[in-house]
Amino acid sequence: MTKIVNSWNDFDPLKRVIVGKADFSVIPDEEPATSEKVPVDSEMRGMWGPRPTETVEKANAALDRLAKELESRGVIVDRPTPIQWNQAMGTPDFRVPSGMTQMPPRDILLTMGNEIMASANSFRCRYFEYLAYWPLMNQYFEEDPEFKWTQAPRPRLTDKSYKHNYYDEQISLEERLERTANLDFVTTEAEPMWDAADVLRLGKDLFIQHGLTTNRKAMEWFKRYYPEHRIHAVNFPGDPYPIHIDATFVPLRPGLIINNPERRLPEEQRKIFEANDWQIVDAAQPSHSEPPPLCYSSVWLSMNCLVLDHKNVIIEASEVHQAEQMEKLGMNPIPVDFRDAYAFGGGLHCATADVYREGDCEDYFP
Ligand code: NVA
Repeated sequence: MTKIVNSWNDFDPLKRVIVGKADFSVIPDEEPATSEKVPVDSEMRGMWGPRPTETVEKANAALDRLAKELESRGVIVDRPTPIQWNQAMGTPDFRVPSGMTQMPPRDILLTMGNEIMASANSFRCRYFEYLAYWPLMNQYFEEDPEFKWTQAPRPRLTDKSYKHNYYDEQISLEERLERTANLDFVTTEAEPMWDAADVLRLGKDLFIQHGLTTNRKAMEWFKRYYPEHRIHAVNFPGDPYPIHIDATFVPLRPGLIINNPERRLPEEQRKIFEANDWQIVDAAQPSHSEPPPLCYSSVWLSMNCLVLDHKNVIIEASEVHQAEQMEKLGMNPIPVDFRDAYAFGGGLHCATADVYREGDCEDYFP
């Protein structure tokens, strides 16, 4: 019996990690919470169905490249068990024509010390995604006597969980930004809803993005579930599609965070970092002016890196500006060709979920 699960942040030495798989990925049909994620001029508007096989194969090749790089550095890599997402699914409260994918494990699994918790996602098409990780969770449960296998309260995702007229009209970018500034999002406060990728773990402190995929009630739920932790709701006013914190605010090592220059953390929320001598640096510009085809994410996946320890960081091979900045910041960037996986739910950080990092739960903001 060994200790398999332990991780309190995104930068301590990584020893074991889950890397997603693209098999059977589907572009989901529109549903109340997903439309906001597809820009009005995107070629993905109004289309849904299984992703083209060739793109799945290329994405899997990129994911395998990442896995190989990690293994060559002594990191144990676990993979989910793909599920056929191209089938109708439902609960007593809703029906959807398909699921989505098991590519971005970061959206689904939150590791807090010896606990891995499946999140309370707001997309109906992602309701059953946790099942792809259950064989691994069961394995950890059998092999690690301290592993806590947890599922957050399942949201019901009835019509009450969404604002139904939120996207009826073609809203302009300005209007979107205004809504972000006013903390007016598509989800209601009917029940706690959150994606694990909105949660930034820094030991005792959790910085959680309040946006399109995580609501205020989730913050309250976190406060009660983790009374020993400090929960900070954070917002990034320049983001028209505030979903997931890891292309916006990315820690590289204790005391250093890169922040998307178009989505700066407001002064008020910076205070805790400044008071504790943390440096927040504007991230370098992305190398690309457009995301790849059929991609939900922005070009800022450039900063969605996977930190291996306080020095080494895996970044996407074409992101040369980000690599240069990493070097200037004293990091050693390790390039992996990964862009073919972007359309399946994100970059290098999204595509992984922590299982084991050395280190304890530190108090960085005493
Ligand atoms: N909303 C983010 C997703 C990051 C994984 C972006 O596309 O920038």
